[in-house]
Amino acid sequence: MKVLVLNGPNLGRLGTREPDVYGRTTYADLVSLCEETGRELGVEVEVRQTDFEGEMLGWLHRAADDGTAVVLNAGAWTHYSIAVRDACSQLTAPLVEVHISNVHKREDFRHHSHLSAVADGVIVGLGVQGYPLAIRWLAEKA
Ligand code: DQA
Repeated sequence: MKVLVLNGPNLGRLGTREPDVYGRTTYADLVSLCEETGRELGVEVEVRQTDFEGEMLGWLHRAADDGTAVVLNAGAWTHYSIAVRDACSQLTAPLVEVHISNVHKREDFRHHSHLSAVADGVIVGLGVQGYPLAIRWLAEKA
């Protein structure tokens, strides 16, 4: 089984980006955390990040065609990208939406997600620990 962990804009800057909101775990640490979880569970985990929406759409289209499970932190696209939502709607394996911060405790514009309605589950506010939890759930569901 394979799980793709896809991260959207600004998430490559984890560790230095607003550490009071997102913590001090770096993006490299996040990649290691996800890969270690995969090794522990016997699941192939691939972690990617992009600041380009078209690249994200391509990854989601490929995941849809390949039947690959996805953990997605779409960053700010969550709140305004119908295109990312439409790509998520095409997925053929389960999708878990993850947010490091508790978006519901933050600005109003972060309270709505275009993705939640097409995700199987949503994890918010548990920091980077949301990722291994999502991977574990997908591995158990497969
Ligand atoms: C985020 C929350 C979003 O509102 C924000 O735009 C991000 C990160 C999170 O992981 O908490 O880039 O998705």
